[in-house]
Amino acid sequence: MQSQEKTSASSRYLSGFGNEFSSEALPGALPVGQNSPQKVPYGLYTELLSGTAFTVPRSEARRTWLYRIRPSANHGQYQRMDRQLGAALGPITPNRLRWNPAPFPQAGTDFLDGLECVTANAEPDQPAGASIYRYVANQSMQRVFFNADGELLIVPQEGELKLVTELGVLEIEPLEIAVIPRGMRFRAELLGATARGYVCENHGCALRLPDLGPIGSNGLANPRDFLAPVAHFEERDDPVELVQKFLGELWTTQLDHSPLDVVAWHGNNVPYKYDLRCFNTIGTVSFDHPDPSIFTVLTSPSAIHGMANIDFVIFPPRWMVAENTFRPPWFHRNLMNEFMGLIAGAYDAKADGFSPGGASLHNCMSAHGPDHVSTEQAIKAELKPHKIENTMAFMFETGQVLRPTRQALESPQLQSDYDSCWAGLTKTFDKNQK
Ligand SMILES: [Fe+2]
Repeated sequence: MQSQEKTSASSRYLSGFGNEFSSEALPGALPVGQNSPQKVPYGLYTELLSGTAFTVPRSEARRTWLYRIRPSANHGQYQRMDRQLGAALGPITPNRLRWNPAPFPQAGTDFLDGLECVTANAEPDQPAGASIYRYVANQSMQRVFFNADGELLIVPQEGELKLVTELGVLEIEPLEIAVIPRGMRFRAELLGATARGYVCENHGCALRLPDLGPIGSNGLANPRDFLAPVAHFEERDDPVELVQKFLGELWTTQLDHSPLDVVAWHGNNVPYKYDLRCFNTIGTVSFDHPDPSIFTVLTSPSAIHGMANIDFVIFPPRWMVAENTFRPPWFHRNLMNEFMGLIAGAYDAKADGFSPGGASLHNCMSAHGPDHVSTEQAIKAELKPHKIENTMAFMFETGQVLRPTRQALESPQLQSDYDSCWAGLTKTFDKNQK
């Protein structure tokens, strides 16, 4: 149980992944021993927010009980807005694509205005798949938003965000991430002048920690480093715009109060944050490097055993010690589809052209790997222990082909010469010299 008055960092968050949490912003607000008493303390209303069907296995179930000033049902009709967001699949292309970072806007732009779909692999009414966005913003949201189409994994690249959710407040900065459950209302406020980053919308099974197999019971992202908010409510009887994304369309309604009015809650369907610097990176201490699945932070499984609907993978600072080994990623053609972004620094497989805030897309069976400059350097390098520092790249890896949106294909940030980064990989074969 936490108190709203406590302000130290440890008291603003609840630690753990997938826990049955409980929190109350007023003492005694949370009913004891049952979920739906006839009379709720403080005259609150009871509401259930389900993240999964009632009858999924217990280990899959996500739901939270909310005790709030007004039930969410207290609203009028939604009106369709003149804007779609990730509603339709874009054109097909097998080409490798890369984008420069999006510029910050000049006009007033909040998180929702600045959200633009880059690529997607499913229509939003499907119970699987993902849509990937980038965002730029220069002002805080005054309105409140929720997404009926999936959970949102937010990856800031520049600028801190204060995410005021129904369950409480999450503050994240670059090198941290946050996940907002499907349907949860929130407002993204800027703590600096500008913000930029990436969002992965997961239409499938909720993100969870990957199984560790032979790694054992510790390592990669440890559960204790995931932080959920403590209860925090707004008692505001002013007009508030509430926007939802529903099957890729935005709809709006006006409330006469803040919908962020949950005084107490308990459950496991919660927003959470994670500091990527807490990731316990594991790699080779002999030769060759493992598959990049070793860098998986969170995963959403698909119906095919072992094949992710979405993996969130990071490439953090780490020691490279492999002997007699080509140390950058090897050249590859994979079944899985890879959207990459860069949060900070440089990525070890690209000498230039892949900037913080930029992105690349390598779909199923597209041939890629280190560029020719990185390759030449790696073949010549003296193989002493070397630490890759000041870097954080990430990948949203999916089992279904990602189709770039028309907007992304027509974007001025799209690099027309991306293929040329491999053009310098000239023939070095000599059958007379082993
Ligand atoms: Fe790749």
